[in-house]
Amino acid sequence: MGIKVTDVAFVRFQAPDLDVMQSFFEEFGLQVSERTDDTLYMRGTDDDGFVHVTHLGPEPAFLGLAFEASSVDELHELAAHADFSDVGALEGPGGGSVVRATDPNGFQVEVVAGRAPLGALTAPAAEPHNDAHARTRTGTALRLGAGPSHVKRLGHCVLEVLDFRATEGWYKEHFGLLTSDEIQLDETMALGAFLRCDRGDAFVDHHTLFLLGIGRAGFNHAAFEVADFDDLMRGHTHLTAHGRHAQWGIGRHFLGSQIYDYWLDPHGHMVEHWTDGDLFDNTTPPGIASIGTLLGSQWGPTHGGPPA
Ligand SMILES: [Fe+2]
Repeated sequence: MGIKVTDVAFVRFQAPDLDVMQSFFEEFGLQVSERTDDTLYMRGTDDDGFVHVTHLGPEPAFLGLAFEASSVDELHELAAHADFSDVGALEGPGGGSVVRATDPNGFQVEVVAGRAPLGALTAPAAEPHNDAHARTRTGTALRLGAGPSHVKRLGHCVLEVLDFRATEGWYKEHFGLLTSDEIQLDETMALGAFLRCDRGDAFVDHHTLFLLGIGRAGFNHAAFEVADFDDLMRGHTHLTAHGRHAQWGIGRHFLGSQIYDYWLDPHGHMVEHWTDGDLFDNTTPPGIASIGTLLGSQWGPTHGGPPA
């Protein structure tokens, strides 16, 4: 028996210098929520206490990811399963409760609930736009301030896994995830899948977790939603001006349809800015897609191509 998680909550990393991480992620558009001698908690403009955590440690490393549950009672349901720890206190701003498990690839997976909302931070207002369909901005000029993007929230995490089917089974059993699109090499061989949360008739992101079965366990990327397209472009300009490493973008994906822009953090861990993704409820049937569709773009550079 499992539960149905409601979203991804945060990712944890280890790094040897918190100043280096803070500097990059402030330029990326996160904001410091709390910093102790050994831990850096960073947040988006939504009211969660943190979406990205860095623990001070000798080697840069991805430590794991966390999902959100709708109640502490559900954490106790998970804790009854042998794979999960007892329910404990979640450290960091906003507090809350947590259970922990290790997935079939050795990744730490946390599930949290009961976090205190810290209040939303200022995000850019929605600007009216003029295009071929509508003239909504009249009599006034559009002026966008320069600076970092405004990261709203963590949207999804992508893991490279040893055995796709075994890993998919583990996440679906415990967390109730649904398949949005499965990537198939041919009719007999699945490479991975985009999985979303099951929140009934509520619309959720096309993917909260993407599992890529390539025979090794590793972090691929974490993706953060920004305010809108202008905000994504503003952030691209800002990161470029600070000499940061653009990895892939800017383009629009097929699977999930979001506009994407990928960067590398100071230790080579990939992080994505995205906006305007698809939203599905639990009635959308699973799709099947090729690796070409996975790596292609509706517009923008093909995968591995130079940043646009
Ligand atoms: Fe992504």
